[in-house]
Amino acid sequence: MIHEQGLPFSRGSRLTKETISPKLFRHLARFIQDNYGIKMPDSKKVMLEARLRRRMRQIGYDSIGDYLDYVFSPDGRRNELVHMIDHVTTNKTGFFREPVHFPFLCDQIIPRITGSRNFSGSSILKVWSAACSTGEEPYTLAMVINEFAEQKGALRFSILASDLSTRVLKIASQGVYTEEQIQDIPLRLREKYLLRSKDRGLRLVQMGEMLRGAVTFRRINLMDDDFGIQEKMHIIFCRNVLIYFEKQKQQRLVHKFADQLEPQGFLFIGHSESLAGLEVPFVSMAQTVYQKK
Ligand SMILES: C[S@@+](CC[C@H](N)C(=O)[O-])C[C@H]1O[C@@H](n2cnc3c(N)ncnc32)[C@H](O)[C@@H]1O
Repeated sequence: MIHEQGLPFSRGSRLTKETISPKLFRHLARFIQDNYGIKMPDSKKVMLEARLRRRMRQIGYDSIGDYLDYVFSPDGRRNELVHMIDHVTTNKTGFFREPVHFPFLCDQIIPRITGSRNFSGSSILKVWSAACSTGEEPYTLAMVINEFAEQKGALRFSILASDLSTRVLKIASQGVYTEEQIQDIPLRLREKYLLRSKDRGLRLVQMGEMLRGAVTFRRINLMDDDFGIQEKMHIIFCRNVLIYFEKQKQQRLVHKFADQLEPQGFLFIGHSESLAGLEVPFVSMAQTVYQKK
């Protein structure tokens, strides 16, 4: 639910063609932070303007003021706000990013879950890639968990992958990547799980049917009170997104993750992130891997 509090933009407000005034930047930054959690310190002003201009060019605006007037008009709130936010987010990701997490997942975490009394032969291992960007993280998870399942005996699993940005979710659900983007996937897994485009000149690959069938994509704003997810998760990957949120919002989000996890469920965060200093119901298992108390 978007609460657009205290917006200073109304039809007729005008900004210079090239930049946002410091006052309007502060209002826009506050709006983005309140509704989506993303910190916008003054040092991000130039970056934000550049990203807004990229979107403006796509739809034919040449004044940032006119564009923001449109975004916050009734029509813009319905049809354009989502695209503006798409451009505000930072979506860097990759297959097998921060790779030490994956053997740890298979050697330490999944066996604990499947070996627990609450997990039976008919249980489904439920994993959530929260803030999945263009899909490389959930498809990596699908490959490594499927490899685990084949080696260690039948294991049913499902992966929910979500992000705030509709633009990245569209790419993720298509599951098409360039040859360069898949370089970090081990060759054996590429041959097993990926489909090459018939036109070799395109140098594109698509995630195969097994991977696309294992992952469900959905738009979720991690700042929302209710994620709208019915089932409890065994594992949440929320990597390289907490870093964009201020401490109070990090703490609230990690509490909500605890509510969304099964008892003793697991949370993976990014290597440059930490729960140290937050009052949250998790114990550390390894650097950047936590278990719900
Ligand atoms: C840097 S990417 C990380 C992708 C992946 N987890 C990884 O580590 O490679 C951060 C993602 O967080 C998403 N994001 C930012 N704010 C969000 C929010 N409030 N709710 C959901 N996703 C958000 C962005 O759209 C972006 O795709």
